[in-house]
Amino acid sequence: MPETCARRARVLHEERFSCEPAIESSAPGRVNLIGDHVDYAGGFVLPMTVAQRTHVAATVDLNQDRFASEWRGDERWTRYAAGVLAELRSAGIDVPFLRIAVASDLPIGGGLSSSAALEIAVARTALAAAGASIAPRGLALLCQRAEHLHAGTPCGIMDQWCIAHGDHPADGARTAILLDCAKLEWRSIAIPATLEIGIIDSGQRHALHDGDYASRRADVDGAANALGVGHLARLPRGRWIEIEQLDEPMRSRARHVVRESERVELAAVALSTGDIDRFGALLSESHASLSGDFGVSTNLIDSIVARELAAGAIGARITGGGFGGCVVVARHAGGSRPT
Ligand code: GLA
Repeated sequence: MPETCARRARVLHEERFSCEPAIESSAPGRVNLIGDHVDYAGGFVLPMTVAQRTHVAATVDLNQDRFASEWRGDERWTRYAAGVLAELRSAGIDVPFLRIAVASDLPIGGGLSSSAALEIAVARTALAAAGASIAPRGLALLCQRAEHLHAGTPCGIMDQWCIAHGDHPADGARTAILLDCAKLEWRSIAIPATLEIGIIDSGQRHALHDGDYASRRADVDGAANALGVGHLARLPRGRWIEIEQLDEPMRSRARHVVRESERVELAAVALSTGDIDRFGALLSESHASLSGDFGVSTNLIDSIVARELAAGAIGARITGGGFGGCVVVARHAGGSRPT
């Protein structure tokens, strides 16, 4: 029988801390169907959770927090875990010291939100240890704050929100979350049975905290300031012409942001009406924009997208923060086009 991820976390806990875990929690990753680099600009996004999860096994420690993971040699992840514990404690929750062992089936730094899955899984563990609970909205905001303050990534809210709200393991329902990142309002969107969603891992890795993500965000914030708007993604269509007056690279970045957020709204309509060809076309437009105007794709990712489209996919795009990671592919279910 293959060793499950939950079991790997348990075994790791036993090996490293010489006792059985008392608390076990987990959280899934997410794939963003469409709407990248718009969450921190107040746009719309359309992510859904994936089957791969991050598992945490833990016990209470009398003296200090201790961490162990399968990611040997890479200790950066502890900043995310320790950050979540620090934020819970500073929110007044009486979290005891914990020994935390982590295992994950998610590609680390692969665009499926391994960081937010880790944050939410650690938060669920700590809340169980404290006998406390936080509603999904507060949990998502707390984990985002932990990532900003302790891991140094100025991320938006999409990943933590999707993972805190979108975990439907029991019913197995295929639903995405349409989130308005300006208002923090969301609703579920069902994925039509005629649509198959695939995820291809390029194997290329890029850590979001090494500067490129922050520099894209700075371009977007700069464009919003220059145009005098709080949420660039919500710049009224009648003002889009003003984007053309901005200097590069703000002009290209802003062009992506306003169009991408609009594409998300159109994609949600396409899913709701079962128009999956339209949905696929929007995914491919999104990729062209992320690769061109936003500059977050790579040659390898572009070649995977082109290969999938040539092989009959109805749409394909890079997903997540970019600079490598995964491609999300839309296909007709069963591989055949309806007649
Ligand atoms: C990362 C961030 C998100 C979002 C995406 C790009 O996953 O954590 O907040 O900005 O990149 O859409």
